[in-house]
Amino acid sequence: MKNTRTIGVLTSGGDAPGMNACIRAVTRAAINEGWTVQGIYRGYEGLMDGEIRELTTESVSNMIQRGGTFLKTARSKDFMTEEGRQKAYENLVKFGIDALIVIGGNGSLTGAQLFAREYDIPVIGLPGTIDNDLYGTDATIGYDSALNTIVECVDKIRDTANSHDRIFFIEVMGRDAGFLAQNSAIASGAEAAIIPEGSTDVDQLAEFIERGKRKSKNSAIVLVSEAQKDGVGGAFYYAERIKNEYPQFDARVTILGHLQRGGTPSAYDRILASRMGYAAIEALLEGQRNIMIGIKNDEIVYVPISRAVKMNKPINQELITVLNVLSM
Ligand code: F6P
Repeated sequence: MKNTRTIGVLTSGGDAPGMNACIRAVTRAAINEGWTVQGIYRGYEGLMDGEIRELTTESVSNMIQRGGTFLKTARSKDFMTEEGRQKAYENLVKFGIDALIVIGGNGSLTGAQLFAREYDIPVIGLPGTIDNDLYGTDATIGYDSALNTIVECVDKIRDTANSHDRIFFIEVMGRDAGFLAQNSAIASGAEAAIIPEGSTDVDQLAEFIERGKRKSKNSAIVLVSEAQKDGVGGAFYYAERIKNEYPQFDARVTILGHLQRGGTPSAYDRILASRMGYAAIEALLEGQRNIMIGIKNDEIVYVPISRAVKMNKPINQELITVLNVLSM
């Protein structure tokens, strides 16, 4: 392994609070080793188009507290083609980049894995997504901030739900994973969460209504994961069911949408992003390749990217029990 190297860093997929803190950490840790850092703009799109500029210590000043990603991001269809990845590789060679750091979620790291298989370049993945859906890490960068944003919103909705004795279905993001819905439900004292992980074997709405009969409450907050790829689920679906099947209740819907992805990163996410960004450079120094940096029991771990993207990260059953018992 040569001593001086040039690394490329990009953010890809949905932006997540803490991505800037992570770019800062990667940049400064690399510069500390005497390396050069090339910032790749607009994710894989910018890699294919050669939108690449050097990052210095100053480029990442005043960034740790900023939401979004100053490198910008994109969801790239072209990178999923062989021609796209060939173009990307040519630009890495052109800019003398000999290791690539990808900050992103499941789709972005799947792209990274394909690339690493085809070309002889070490790739290190950093889990940056509000969904928390990557296997092998307890948390992803951005998840904690999004969770806090959701809880703040739910607290506000609670006031109006109470005043009108209504059931609110509050839809949150998470793609195929229910972490945001389940944990924001616990943190906001909600009455239920309806999550993709639980939807196959039980009717979660009927179960919630059944449990509700035992309660003295007249209003309720239900956190609902967004609709799945097949269009099933989502807050409107459940509100419609209430109208048809339980007309005695007055239901309303709030879709929190992209509000969840914005805002300044929480302290937890800033620290996580800093530790993980630093760890990515340490991993390269150790000669690691094609791994994702994760965190387990507060220790940095290396996870093969292939496992991180393919394995399902289960929701801890304890979280479901805690919500069910405490929402009485
Ligand atoms: O993966 C992050 C995420 O915010 C998901 O929770 C959501 O399903 C998706 O991105 C939305 O993507 P877009 O911003 O491209 O509509």
